[in-house]
Amino acid sequence: MSESTSRPRGLDGVVAAQTRLSHVDGQNGRLVIGGYELDELAGKTTFEQAAHLLWTGTLPTAAAAAELTREIAARRPLPAPVLALVREAVARGAPPIDALRMAASAMSLDVPNPADISPAADVANAKMLVARFPTVVAAWIRLRSGAEPIAPRADLPLAANFLHMVTGREPDPIAARALDTYWVTVIDHGMNASTFAGRVIASTRSDMISAVTGAIGALKGPLHGGAPGPVLDMLHEIGTAANCEPWVRARLAAGERIMGFGHRVYKVRDPRAQVLSRVAEQMSGAQLEDRELFDLARACEQTIVRVLDEVKPGRNLRTNVEFFTALVLQSLGLKPETFVALFACGRAAGWAAHVIEQHAEDHLIRPQSEYVGPRGLTIPG
Ligand code: COA
Repeated sequence: MSESTSRPRGLDGVVAAQTRLSHVDGQNGRLVIGGYELDELAGKTTFEQAAHLLWTGTLPTAAAAAELTREIAARRPLPAPVLALVREAVARGAPPIDALRMAASAMSLDVPNPADISPAADVANAKMLVARFPTVVAAWIRLRSGAEPIAPRADLPLAANFLHMVTGREPDPIAARALDTYWVTVIDHGMNASTFAGRVIASTRSDMISAVTGAIGALKGPLHGGAPGPVLDMLHEIGTAANCEPWVRARLAAGERIMGFGHRVYKVRDPRAQVLSRVAEQMSGAQLEDRELFDLARACEQTIVRVLDEVKPGRNLRTNVEFFTALVLQSLGLKPETFVALFACGRAAGWAAHVIEQHAEDHLIRPQSEYVGPRGLTIPG
């Protein structure tokens, strides 16, 4: 179908909702979350504080932040049927993002009235989903390696507790901070595909759990949240900085896309890549292997952008969030197969905020399609 300004492909440039949650300035490479530039939030607020900002419109006082952290901590354990579902998913070889989608859907089982879409019910469900998602992913990681899940600890913030549930050890504060910063960095991002999917569901007056479950389904695709795993594979395959240029040229000649580059909205470097490259650099100080990978990534980034500019002139394909996400998450000892589920753990707070906003808006999102099929067919005989 041809592109025209009246029928933009993929709704490119179409405003589907007004939001107070976040603004993506693609030309200038800026991201505003609840009124704050990303750089102002990431590394300075905790994930729980950023979630409070999205759910209520303001950053919490110290007492309110402690209260929200406590409330989320109290909701971390998985009900038995949800844990059983995660076990079954692992036994059948389902990836963590699928286990998370199944588990998210089953989380309505112990909610007294899952259809309640009042503001109070929405916020309660938001806390529950954000609290439980890391527990699901940690359980998947443990079960996949043949170990039993570790019960969540209520005395740790969300990111530190996740690392505890994965390793069983006291979480390293630097690693916990890196994961926390990652989750703040990806907490919300305008009308991206999964957020739109969630808002469409919420716009029918469907509930929080249904909307967030649908959003997970949209996130898992490689054009959205599924890129960082392949980014790591790509770096390992490239192996050396000298091999980068021939590798990229060969892929582009074969018509392939380079993962971690290009964005529908950003035409300059994604500001989240900026934040996460700093985090990856800090994390790479600890181990030589990580340092080598980080140096390779920085060298490849420059080469890839240069080659993309030459092969795809005028497309302004720049580094996106997924490129450095891969480095941050692997430096935490996490495997690529878990990356998109970890993205969902952070974005869940943003999805929930959009559901709250959409429920308040209470207007059905229902676009139209342009029929391009045949007409007037008749049934023979
Ligand atoms: N590598 C190579 N070429 C790319 C590319 C990439 N990563 N991203 C876009 N292009 C090319 C397309 O092939 C197209 O070329 P053409 O005009 O010669 O046909 C042109 O750039 C425009 O692509 P288009 O698909 O219209 O852009 P989009 O806005 O729909 O795509 C993405 C945005 C993110 C889906 C796309 O850039 C992509 O696939 N990136 C790789 C996956 C990724 O990193 N995803 C994470 C996003 S945060």
